[in-house]
Amino acid sequence: LKPVKVGICGLGTVGSGTFNILRNNAEEITRRVGRSIVVEQIAARQVNPTCDTTDINTTSDIFDVANNPEVDIVVELIGGTSVALELVLTAIENGKHVVTANKALIAVHGNEIFAKAQEKGVMVAFEAAVAGGIPIIKTLREGLSANQIEWLAGIINGTGNFIMTEMSEKGRAFEDVLKEAQALGYAEADPTFDVEGIDAAHKLTILASIAYGIPLQFEKTYTEGISRITAEDVSFAKEMGYSIKHLGIARRTAEGVELRVHPTLISHKALLSNVNGVMNAVMVKGDAVGPTLTYGAGAGAMPTGSSVVADIMDVARTLTADPTNRVPHLAFQPEQLSNENV
Ligand code: HSE
Repeated sequence: LKPVKVGICGLGTVGSGTFNILRNNAEEITRRVGRSIVVEQIAARQVNPTCDTTDINTTSDIFDVANNPEVDIVVELIGGTSVALELVLTAIENGKHVVTANKALIAVHGNEIFAKAQEKGVMVAFEAAVAGGIPIIKTLREGLSANQIEWLAGIINGTGNFIMTEMSEKGRAFEDVLKEAQALGYAEADPTFDVEGIDAAHKLTILASIAYGIPLQFEKTYTEGISRITAEDVSFAKEMGYSIKHLGIARRTAEGVELRVHPTLISHKALLSNVNGVMNAVMVKGDAVGPTLTYGAGAGAMPTGSSVVADIMDVARTLTADPTNRVPHLAFQPEQLSNENV
């Protein structure tokens, strides 16, 4: 089978993670998908010193990628909602599949994007948009799809959780920790999205849409951030046996699905209270399965890249004609059975 060709738009934190995982794990990825995935083109404003792109066709214009006839999958990692929307709609119009890590784009323009994708018969995948490396989209859509979801609650902003943890454990100042989160590549380009709960609201909007099969309703989400939490609040809570955690909560009610993000007091005995630093965790209560918990890094180059590459692989599998590849019951190819060295 011929390789699946991807075009990466944006080579910042997530772009570099995506590129390096595709490079480092190429052999595994080819084996699991049944065909290789190659980076056909990269659009970036500047070179990223963590990526060796010397043998790759690079451009400074993202629309070169969306219009490149060789590219099968456009990977949108530029962020924002204006140019990114234009890029994604152009790619879809050109019959390309799209993988994106852009939660703002999906939460605010997802209804329009998915309608267009359906019209054109292309896939749009966005696992990396919520909770970085945690496969929570696939968990909700596939693993828990037989359930009626009673509620879900999660720590879904790594920057905010990092700030709260450092304030609580080391008594550090809010602004100081925020600067470190920015330097580590955790924070949004505009960090008010992290500290005012907007980023978490974007993510909750996406989770609720999948959990309850409802359109994306970002404007209906009650949104409160962590910017007014003081060091005293954190230390009083600690003395009383609680952590302050910023949660995104979606709940089925008689009036419909309730969506809210805000700081919450959580007993030290509860699992979510022990989710610290950049880690995220999402609890989902299904009527059949009961409570479940997924946990992992919520931001950062390699964890978020892990989700982007998994989506690229999903799209590539679906593109293969062989139906056994679509639901990969085994992670190896049959010809390996005769290869003693594997
Ligand atoms: N700024 C986001 C966070 C990045 O801190 O969670 C990952 O979505």
